[in-house]
Amino acid sequence: MKESYITTAIPYVNGNPHLGHAMDYLLADTLRRYMMYCGKKVRLQAGTDEHGSKIFKKAAEQGIPVQEFADQNAQKFQDFIHSLGVEYTDFIRTTDPKHERRCQKIWEKLADHIYKDKYEGWYCEGCEAYVTDKEHDDNGGECPDHKKPYIKLSEENYYLRISDFKDRIREAIETDEFKITPSFRKKEFLNLLKDMPDVSISRPKEQVEWGIPVPGDDSQVMYVWIDALSNYITILGYPDEDISDDWPAHTQIVGKDILRFHAGIWPAMLLGLGLPLSHNLLAHGFITVNGEKMSKSVGNVIAPEEILAKHGLAAFRYFFLRHASTTDDADFTWDKYEASYNELANDLGNLVQRLATLCKKNTIAGQKAEQRANADFDARMEKYEFNFAFDILWDGISELNKRIDAEKPWALAKTDPKKAKDVLIKLVVDLLAINDRLAIFLPDTAAQIEEIFTSEAIQPPATPLFPKN
Ligand code: MSP
Repeated sequence: MKESYITTAIPYVNGNPHLGHAMDYLLADTLRRYMMYCGKKVRLQAGTDEHGSKIFKKAAEQGIPVQEFADQNAQKFQDFIHSLGVEYTDFIRTTDPKHERRCQKIWEKLADHIYKDKYEGWYCEGCEAYVTDKEHDDNGGECPDHKKPYIKLSEENYYLRISDFKDRIREAIETDEFKITPSFRKKEFLNLLKDMPDVSISRPKEQVEWGIPVPGDDSQVMYVWIDALSNYITILGYPDEDISDDWPAHTQIVGKDILRFHAGIWPAMLLGLGLPLSHNLLAHGFITVNGEKMSKSVGNVIAPEEILAKHGLAAFRYFFLRHASTTDDADFTWDKYEASYNELANDLGNLVQRLATLCKKNTIAGQKAEQRANADFDARMEKYEFNFAFDILWDGISELNKRIDAEKPWALAKTDPKKAKDVLIKLVVDLLAINDRLAIFLPDTAAQIEEIFTSEAIQPPATPLFPKN
């Protein structure tokens, strides 16, 4: 069976995993679980982007050999992903010699589209990106994301002739053959594509020594983005192995800031290699804290571990998958987080506790979970509106709470025990049907709920699922 391949952006290892990184993983995991729910076989890649001047400098600053520094941080990312309840099938590190060799082969295959020229212009080390004069001027000489002045470069580099592929890329995007979600980002990118220059794809070794050597030219290393983007296929074995079982990717997930690399340079590379373009590119928004961009200098960075420690993983996943939009920016504040946790505890935690307690009193046996069609839910998931799909499940949960209040099984038990039993069984069956999809967002919680309501004799958990503290 062909696999559906989902990819996540590979973070730089110059720092610790942060809240922003969590978004890529949570969305990818949600899509993965949904596709598996639909009976598909899924492959999910994650990894770390370990080359480039930024990482080299950071390691030097800390007095740690750069590979050792990368090793330490790569491990932190793996631990972080696991701590989010996210399961990947492949983890790639760009300093893996296998990846490095495959990148060099990719370079050689692109040779017809590569030429050497002088680069005179601006560069943002934070983004590891070349910046046009216009961007430089529009931003007053400083990167708005990294708040650092652009660096002036004057060097001889290799270039990838993006112009060879522009028309084809435009067509693929316009026709949704290569579909960018959300559509406002698609429009934004199509505008950018018009003036997209050929891209420099190497750096002189004397400037950046921490990179993959350009084949046949000892004086140059590959531009970190060429190396990084290749990860999506080198992990599958390209070009040593046939990757047609997995490639083209079903969905590539990235943050809005790196959409242009994935919608411009990456498709050009794929076309140059004669490979098909991915089916979907999903760009999510940014997480802000108290309405501001997270930044060390502002001092508003909240470590994800701190949030996880507060109310556990389900509360974390609930907030970022339901109360953060899949495609727009979303703001985190502790107040919103508390409100979100209360909602989780009141709507779902209480429902489970109450219903299980009533079932115990009326000796109701566990029921079978059944899969029910839900076209509205599927439509939202397929449009990558995960938060709205989650809302649909929550409506179902609220509905069950209302039904318990209206049907009053505790009162019925006194007057019509048979009817009380029927009402409770129906509530349990309906809850299990919702729970089946809840597992896509909150796998651990759903597993607990399933255990409670399918066990031989239903009884409430000793401690509520979401205790108030
Ligand atoms: N190394 C590149 C990606 C290469 S992919 C071939 C990179 N790394 S990053 O560490 O800066 O970002 C990794 C991911 O985290 C990106 O998808 C990025 O958009 C996302 N985010 C970084 N900060 C974020 C927020 N504040 N909010 C949401 N996502 C953010 O770019």
